[in-house]
Amino acid sequence: MKYALTPMRWVLVSTTVLFCSLANTSQFGDVDLYELGKKVYTTGAESCQTCHGINGAGTPRSKVNLGNPTSWKAFEYEAALRNTGLVMNSDAVAQAVISLGGRGWNEQNFSKLRAHLTHPEQTPKPFDENMVGLNGPNKKVLVTHVRRLLRKAGLPKANPKEIEDLLSASALTYIKEEFVK
Ligand code: HEC
Repeated sequence: MKYALTPMRWVLVSTTVLFCSLANTSQFGDVDLYELGKKVYTTGAESCQTCHGINGAGTPRSKVNLGNPTSWKAFEYEAALRNTGLVMNSDAVAQAVISLGGRGWNEQNFSKLRAHLTHPEQTPKPFDENMVGLNGPNKKVLVTHVRRLLRKAGLPKANPKEIEDLLSASALTYIKEEFVK
């Protein structure tokens, strides 16, 4: 069975408040997240695909198997925090690390995660900062693409944060529909 994010088409996950809350960005309801995500994944010389491979199985630059989300750190963090009072939803963490890159995610969140663990010796490792996510050289091109897409669809203009959320949600949708069996 494929994990589809289709029921989440209307709701993009917020990257704030420790990933508990969902930002309702229903103004983008008409955007095809799979098609946009495919563009995000494959566009440019240092695209997601450069490090993660055409089939998501990895390259020498990233050994993560995008086809197996339970092997992701996002999943490990969610599990480590279970019953600690701090909730991190793994999809929301994955979306946030795509938006912020490993370094940005670690700076904003890793110490909070560690502070909530009852067995600090079991602390999971922070994200590898080679994971740049959207913060690569193609971001400008992708942002321009989204602005044009929204204009063509007759949708309202979006602010930079909303565009970033849309790009990361679409990349995650593409990964789940294309690589996760
Ligand atoms: C320069 C190489 C590079 C690029 C470009 C890159 N990544 Fe990554 N990515 C990595 C590495 C390395 C990891 C492993 C991080 C870790 O396990 O700490 C990773 C991990 C991930 C994960 C797993 C997260 C988790 O919870 O373990 C996802 C999902 C992901 N990348 C998606 C993307 C998407 C989408 C893009 C493009 C917008 C992208 N990556 C661009 C190197 C890259």
